[in-house]
Amino acid sequence: MKFIIGNWKMFPASPSEAKTIFSGIKKSMRGVTHAKVIICPPSLYVAQLALLAAKTKIQIGGQNCFKEDEGAYTGETSPRALRAVGATHVILGHSERRAMGETDSDISEKMSAVIRNKLTVILCVGEKARDEHGGYFNEVSTELRSSLLAFPKNEAKRLIVAYEPIWAIGSRAKRVATPADFREMSILIRRTLTEYFGKKDAFAVPILYGGSVDDHNAEGFLKEGGADGLLIGRVSLDPEKLGMIIRSANTI
Ligand code: PGA
Repeated sequence: MKFIIGNWKMFPASPSEAKTIFSGIKKSMRGVTHAKVIICPPSLYVAQLALLAAKTKIQIGGQNCFKEDEGAYTGETSPRALRAVGATHVILGHSERRAMGETDSDISEKMSAVIRNKLTVILCVGEKARDEHGGYFNEVSTELRSSLLAFPKNEAKRLIVAYEPIWAIGSRAKRVATPADFREMSILIRRTLTEYFGKKDAFAVPILYGGSVDDHNAEGFLKEGGADGLLIGRVSLDPEKLGMIIRSANTI
């Protein structure tokens, strides 16, 4: 079963557009039995899309949340409320949030909050740049270890890791990573997860690739790269292209 996760970021700008895009994605789910699709819209649309997703196989996730369930925290999103309106997953540690100042320790606290609320974490890790000496391997395993610090050892089933090399994300990406880049890094991620959770649980954690995934390169990451799924930004707002990726994942 492959995971196809859409990260809509701060798009689209109206609930009616969100509904139209979601309906398009829903249509492409016909006959899909071997791909798990999770759409993470801006938090303002989570409740609306969770209602639309209720009788479908699509699940809805948040893109971030706060470390507390409620309180005097102006402007924050409660993980408990996310669950109450129908979300099942929360992305944490996305590089765009880390760039806004989020630290590993913030992420670690948020992870505890998500687990406490029986949601699944989609934890993003990835290096800023690549150097000739392979220092980026260390960067990613350190980031993963620090984010996991407070993660309950018996809750590995509530964790999905997305490897997103920052240099490959978004329209300003230097280049797209290759399936071989992913395969190499996923071995290190699996090893780091094994140190923390033990072999059996670590091998059940899905490791996804993210960064400039489109309908042309998706299959390569899933087949040659051996990715357990994909975290998709821009293209997840295009129901036609996302539909092609979902249908292809369904056959792998
Ligand atoms: P992208 O974004 O697919 O637009 O590169 C991926 C992400 O940031 O999760």
